Amino acid sequence: MRYDDVSDELDEILVTEEQMLARLAELAREVERDYDGHDLLLVGVLKGAVMVMSDLSRALTRPVRMDWMAVSSYGHGTTSSGVVRILKDLDTDIAGKNVLLVEDIIDTGLTLSWLRDNLLSRGALTVKILAALQKPDALKVDIVADYLGFDIPNKFVVGYGLDYAENYRHLRDVAVLSPRMYADSE
Ligand code: PRP
Repeated sequence: MRYDDVSDELDEILVTEEQMLARLAELAREVERDYDGHDLLLVGVLKGAVMVMSDLSRALTRPVRMDWMAVSSYGHGTTSSGVVRILKDLDTDIAGKNVLLVEDIIDTGLTLSWLRDNLLSRGALTVKILAALQKPDALKVDIVADYLGFDIPNKFVVGYGLDYAENYRHLRDVAVLSPRMYADSE
């Protein structure tokens, strides 16, 4: 464990920084191939996607632009309404643009499903999805990442942008949070 101060708060590491960077390098090659000759706008979803956006964009050897959205899900985890509120909207007009949505994780899939439809309704030419992580067992809607880092088990994970109560986002690896850390709040 690379973080002595929080090592007793985490269980096993699921994806190391090295594994993530290697996988993102592979995905970057796929993205370059797929968008060859086309403009590409990366749209990151705050705050979790900050790390994957940073690493993916720097792994690309082609010009890209970046924009950001922040969204909040109503009743997240308790309903399957999938209604999302936009807290920070894009600065860019995406009409006619090729958009690649960049996310840290697909859990139920509700956020990305809503976002994809929302961006298409604004006239984006194409909307694809890149997710660093996906929990196949948690999926509630039919959504498939066009570019996926790793499938992980349906456990509470933190690090590489993912938080618990805003903590642990800065950890370089993706780790399972010890259930002891949230047992009292359930
Ligand atoms: C997380 C993650 C995705 C969403 C995935 O964001 O970054 O946006 O949840 O969950 P879903 O597939 O069930 O919709 P969160 O709402 O925790 O905000 P954050 O990125 O600021 O941590």
